[in-house]
Amino acid sequence: MQIVNEIQELNKALALISKSSIGFVPTMGFLHQGHCSLIKASKKKTNFTIVTIFINPTQFTNKSDLEDYPVSLEQDLIMLNKEGVDLVFCPNFQNLFLNEKMIDISLEQLDKVLEGKERKGHFEGVIRVLNIFFNLINPSFAFFGEKDYQQYLIVKYFANHFYPEIKIIPGPTQRELSGLAMSSRNSRLSINDFEKSKGIFKVLTFCKSNFEFNKRKELEKTCFDMLSNFSIPEYFEIRHADDLLNNGNQNRKWRAFAATRLGGVRLIDNIAIN
Ligand code: PAF
Repeated sequence: MQIVNEIQELNKALALISKSSIGFVPTMGFLHQGHCSLIKASKKKTNFTIVTIFINPTQFTNKSDLEDYPVSLEQDLIMLNKEGVDLVFCPNFQNLFLNEKMIDISLEQLDKVLEGKERKGHFEGVIRVLNIFFNLINPSFAFFGEKDYQQYLIVKYFANHFYPEIKIIPGPTQRELSGLAMSSRNSRLSINDFEKSKGIFKVLTFCKSNFEFNKRKELEKTCFDMLSNFSIPEYFEIRHADDLLNNGNQNRKWRAFAATRLGGVRLIDNIAIN
């Protein structure tokens, strides 16, 4: 496994491989089974897998969240080596953004709701860094976890406009035995809150079992109240799976989305409900 920090080294390595077969898994490190499943998917579909480890400051809307973001580079590299990753790119901020070519993109309603409402500028930051990575790496496939479903939709939209040759592949959310969606942020939960956090998946599955198109507003309220029994919810919303609108018709695909806080840790999750 090759580990590179500089753009020039990355370009050198890329010049030696066949461009038609690159799989790209972007990460912010502190890797878990969710990342591994994306890497496995990339290895199955392509013959050269590149992982980036970069905590992207431009996507953090809360300074303390950035400062508290967990780091474990050594362990991450061991894990990536075990998974058979071909190349890991761990750039530093100055170098990565030095020659940034800004793009102008309207994300329409996709970044106005859910996470976009609560974390202003977050998705612009995600797009900024992915624009740099896509430009540098030009993969055939890029892999994103469904835990961040809104991010997946936004990246797909962005890639369709600017990088139509890159296929954006979603990977199913990986869960702890309790049902808690795997996330680097889980490591900041106390034992007590980790125990409570299984309630989030229970509320989502309750929503799925009780989903009735005409009663979805009442169900959102019930689920929000269920979350508030053990945490401090920000939202519980039922929206279309493809455009995140909430006013469409019964026959389309719907998903339930939740964001809630446990002991200061903000957790998000979502599932398909029909
Ligand atoms: O999902 C993440 O970890 C980040 O948003 C990403 C895609 C690596 C961009 O920094």
